[in-house]
Parts: sequence; C-alpha cells; structure tokens
Amino acid sequence: MNSFDTAHRKEVFGHYATGVVVITGVSPDGPKGFTCQTFGSLSVDSALIFFAASTASSSWQRIREVGVVGVNILKSDQEPLARVFAASGTDKFSGVSWFRAPNGSPFLEGSLAYLEGTIREVTNHGDHDIVVAELDFASTEPGDPLVYYRGGYRVLD
Ligand SMILES: Cc1cc2nc3c(=O)[nH]c(=O)nc-3n(C[C@H](O)[C@H](O)[C@H](O)COP(=O)(O)O)c2cc1C
Repeated sequence: MNSFDTAHRKEVFGHYATGVVVITGVSPDGPKGFTCQTFGSLSVDSALIFFAASTASSSWQRIREVGVVGVNILKSDQEPLARVFAASGTDKFSGVSWFRAPNGSPFLEGSLAYLEGTIREVTNHGDHDIVVAELDFASTEPGDPLVYYRGGYRVLD
C-alpha cells in the first residue's frame, strides 16, 4: 500500500494516542464548541497553545470571530460529551452544565483541566486552520484523562 494513501495515513496516525479537548467560545448567538484532538502546548515560556480546526466547522467559524477560546481537557468519564461536541447541526450545549471562564468562554462542568486563551494567529492550510493562542488562564482538577486511540475512546488502566 502506498504510504500516501489516505486510508493508510489515517491508520498510521490512529496509532498516535491523544487526549481529547472541547474548544469553546461564546458567539453572539450563544455558546459554541467542537471536539478536537489536535491540541497542544506550543511554548511553555510564552504560554502559547495550538490546535487545528477544520475550515468546514461552523462552530470554529463562530469561535474565531470571538477571538477568545476555551479549552476543556476531558476526563475519563466524559466520552458522551466528546460525542456530543463532535456532532454537526445539533444544539450541543442543550443539557450540558457549563460555567464561564474569566474571559467568558464556556468551561464544561467536570473537565480534567481548563484553559482559556486569546487567539494570536490563524494560518490556513487547505481544509484546516492552525490556530495559535496565548494563555490567559489554566487550572486542573483531580482525575484521569479521556484518551483517543485508533478510532476509539479509551481510559488509562
Ligand atoms: C476524537 C475526535 C477528534 C477530533 N479532532 C478534531 C480536530 O482536531 N479539529 C477539528 O476541526 N475537528 C475535529 N474533530 C471533528 C469536530 O469535532 C467536528 O467536525 C465538529 O464538532 C463539527 O461540528 P460543527 O459543525 O458544529 O463545527 C474531531 C472529532 C473527534 C470525534
């Protein structure tokens, strides 16, 4: 199989286990959010974070307009939330408990860690944007992470 075949590439990248976050923001017509695994710390010294957002994501387009993002690192028991925030065309916040971060972003109740940042740069790469944000807030809660690996949700043993 050709290494650049899309299915093969997906299979290979699926071997990279990640945590799962929900990126959030409050647009004029209410809170928005989407499940994301391409998130990380870019630079501890300058407190920069990054994530990749699909240009097809309506939630991302609205969050981008706000200019401030919330990052909810999901806990092991939050797979249902990960699924809700990965679906399109639904009222994702219906029945979800959340509170406001210092700069207004939605923080989902029960998350493992919370971050909030100001968007500093958005670079387009075809069907995805690479977003760099500068942290304004970060905190943790006790617990274990939700993990995504080879197309499925896992918890640490
Ligand atoms: C485990 C997992 C990881 C995902 N990671 C990303 C990601 O890194 N970037 C992204 O744009 N979408 C990612 N998605 C897909 C978005 O969650 C999905 O396209 C989005 O929620 C669609 O909703 P919207 O139409 O409201 O934007 C991921 C989905 C799942 C299930």
